[in-house]
Amino acid sequence: MSIKVPLVDMVARYKTVEKEVKKAVISVLESGHFILGPDVSNLEKEASEYIGVKYAVGVASGTDALHLALLACGVKKGDEVITTPFTFIATVEAIAYTGATPVLVDILPGSYNIDPKKAAKKITKKTKAIIPVHMYGQAADMKSIMALAEKHGLKVIEDSAQAFGGECHGKKLSGIGHAGCTSFFPTKNLGGAGDGGMVFTNDDEIAAKVKILHVHGSAAKYVHKTLGFNSRLDSIQAAVLRVHLRHLDQWNDLRRRHARRYGNLLGGNERIILPKELPGNKHVYHLYSVRVSEREACQRFLQERGVSTAVHYPIPVSGQESFRHLGYKAKDIPVSSRISKEVLSLPMYPEMKEEHIEYVCESLLEFCGK
Ligand SMILES: Cc1ncc(COP(=O)(O)O)c(C=O)c1O
Repeated sequence: MSIKVPLVDMVARYKTVEKEVKKAVISVLESGHFILGPDVSNLEKEASEYIGVKYAVGVASGTDALHLALLACGVKKGDEVITTPFTFIATVEAIAYTGATPVLVDILPGSYNIDPKKAAKKITKKTKAIIPVHMYGQAADMKSIMALAEKHGLKVIEDSAQAFGGECHGKKLSGIGHAGCTSFFPTKNLGGAGDGGMVFTNDDEIAAKVKILHVHGSAAKYVHKTLGFNSRLDSIQAAVLRVHLRHLDQWNDLRRRHARRYGNLLGGNERIILPKELPGNKHVYHLYSVRVSEREACQRFLQERGVSTAVHYPIPVSGQESFRHLGYKAKDIPVSSRISKEVLSLPMYPEMKEEHIEYVCESLLEFCGK
């Protein structure tokens, strides 16, 4: 018997909150407040409380959140910002937009996150900030990164786009660094019904700067202090996100439950390397990426059986045409280079049924040999 298992199922999620979302969207339509209305400020309040920080500023995307947070931290042309090449390209694009040079440091094979020891070796007089990316939903080693930043007077901007609700030693991600950035892209753990993002911080100055930058550089209407951007979060998005935020913990719990089930069913096969939740971390499994050899054949095999998978990401950022000028070779980032050829994201979404997980595992084990 063959069943179809998508990688994610946005419609299944919508069905679980349909009534609430419809009510929220209609109330925005009826209010006429489409830009920076009460839903945006209420979401900012609720999300900042959830993360446990003083400020949250809604912006137009996760990419903008990173860009504006970097600018608010004073990053500019001539500076260097450390991050990893094993991320979605937006992390590195945001650095490049400021005119600063991205310095790409390899990852740890256990967590797929930046290796703080290697990062320490790349700090120069020009280094201004570090962006740890909490890949797949698991925290980077924030203790070491914060200690490194403190020692060298650097800003830490967390890229939590894949990890909303995740924790590190009991603290919510996005609330540990000087600033935290998230994406509300629909498939994210806290996703909207379109693009959106948010910057979190406890720092009065960073918050004030992001607030000004995201509305054309103005603090008061039609008075522009600095060159800014149009990067506002839509009220309709905010209304949908407020509903989703109320369900997020439950959705993340389901993701964690599915991950445990995957682990139980796939564990022990030496041809499959499973993701590991490291001590002190609460992994929220935005993606459940395993590592397999012969990945392309494996992906085709699964697709033939109706199981959709994806690769996050097949090419490290330094190998992308838009960043080849940075001059990195595969040997400079050996772990990222190797792992990007092996990772395979299996279906993962809160509404997955037990039989879906069993079928995915059965199919994968059939390929890998039981
Ligand atoms: C790690 C990471 N950073 C940044 C982003 C950018 O977010 P957005 O698509 O909302 O601009 C994403 C989104 O895919 C991401 O996964």
